[in-house]
Amino acid sequence: MPPSPLEEDIFPSTPGKIKIERTHHYTMNRSFHRCFTSTTTMFLWALLLIALTASYLSIQSFVDTGTRFLHHPIPRDHVIIGGPHWEKKIRASAQVHRVHGLSVLVTGAAGFVGSHVALALKKRGDGVVGLDNFNDYYDPSLKHARRALLDGHNIFVVEGDINDKRILVKLFDVVPFTHVMHLAAQAGVRYAIENPHSYVHSNIAGLVKLLEQCKSADPQPAVVWASSSSVYGLNDKAPFSESDRTDRPASLYAATKKAGEAITHSYNHIYGLAITGLRFFTVYGPWGRPDMAYFSFTQNIRKGKRITIYRGKNGVDLARDFTYIDDIVKGCVAALDTSGKSTGSGGKKKGAAPYRIYNLGNTQPVTVPTMVSILEKYLKKKAKKHVVTMLGNGDVPFTHANISLARRELGYNPTTDLPTGLRKFVKWYESYYVEDHGKPVKY
Ligand SMILES: NC(=O)c1ccc[n+]([C@@H]2O[C@H](COP(=O)([O-])OP(=O)(O)OC[C@H]3O[C@@H](n4cnc5c(N)ncnc54)[C@H](O)[C@@H]3O)[C@@H](O)[C@H]2O)c1
Repeated sequence: MPPSPLEEDIFPSTPGKIKIERTHHYTMNRSFHRCFTSTTTMFLWALLLIALTASYLSIQSFVDTGTRFLHHPIPRDHVIIGGPHWEKKIRASAQVHRVHGLSVLVTGAAGFVGSHVALALKKRGDGVVGLDNFNDYYDPSLKHARRALLDGHNIFVVEGDINDKRILVKLFDVVPFTHVMHLAAQAGVRYAIENPHSYVHSNIAGLVKLLEQCKSADPQPAVVWASSSSVYGLNDKAPFSESDRTDRPASLYAATKKAGEAITHSYNHIYGLAITGLRFFTVYGPWGRPDMAYFSFTQNIRKGKRITIYRGKNGVDLARDFTYIDDIVKGCVAALDTSGKSTGSGGKKKGAAPYRIYNLGNTQPVTVPTMVSILEKYLKKKAKKHVVTMLGNGDVPFTHANISLARRELGYNPTTDLPTGLRKFVKWYESYYVEDHGKPVKY
């Protein structure tokens, strides 16, 4: 069917071609009308295009704020938040199942320490919601496996970045969290040489975004967060006490953790947020971090690959105060239970709130070669060792925690020695990975 004259006018068969040189009045009118309608149409199309471009750019910048420094951007569909289904899942996850139970937002919940703490809280009846950006600093499939584990215990882990204000606002809109257990961070000392910005993104900018949200929340939650033994830097007075110098960091990672202690102090001072910083000492155990020496040594010894062992410049072995994950979890939970309350609301301070810092270590430093020999025993295989003198890569020669303060105020009492903890780690490792033609695969 041929188009009606009107249809033809509105949708010219040759778009953009408008005859304007006809002198007949009617024709002029018609031309003018055609011209006008075409211009209007073009104008409307242009408006639509501008609107689409603007909304695309705003989505892009929203995604960017959260992912610019990530190794692996979050797929768009994972960024979409909100909606009744999402809120229902958040509420169910945050449901408290005991009298005086806590309602805790755990950042970094798909991480090593975060997944253990989230489970421990849920198991005793607290409400827990997780937040993690699942970046690929190390194999994200391990983070997804931890998430599946948490999912099985009705803990919902939101996929998002702590820099993403929209997600934080939404989470606090849905749940009046009593506590935030902040464990999301860019961890690792040596990686800072490769990707310094990821440390600033997560450990500085992300921390500030989170604290901004906490200070504005009504009620304000109490915040417990992970600092690190690395803040002791070049301190050589052993064991390390909370009152020792922490102004000589040996790595950018340590510097960002030290900055975190100063930043949290200012939020405590200005806004009345109750803050507890925990200086963890080399945490290890099942579901651990593949970038850490005990984990990568296990992988390489099993595969018959060479391992590199660093030694101090004067030929002294490096030593670490290895702390088993279950002991760290007990310390985190005790810190939450004793955190005290934030005093402010809606961004206004109403009185002084607690500001605390504790070492969470094991107080028994073990040298790296001793750790390797324990692994060799459990793996029933000799390591091919390559010993090299430590470069200036951010590692410190030893760590050793004084935990008297945490013992006294948190009732913290680590009970797992390195041989016991590594036996549990190797058992987990062997159940999680099976050898397939020399390649570890998950089953
Ligand atoms: N494991 C240790 O030996 C140790 C020692 C000292 C301090 N710490 C600190 O303890 C905390 C937990 O460490 P871990 O060993 O479980 O590390 P992890 O890397 O396994 O866990 C951190 C989690 O945070 C997530 N994350 C990172 N940046 C994020 C961001 N911007 N937004 C949202 N999620 C983000 C990561 O995806 C990861 O799952 C970290 O703050 C770390 O610096 C750990």
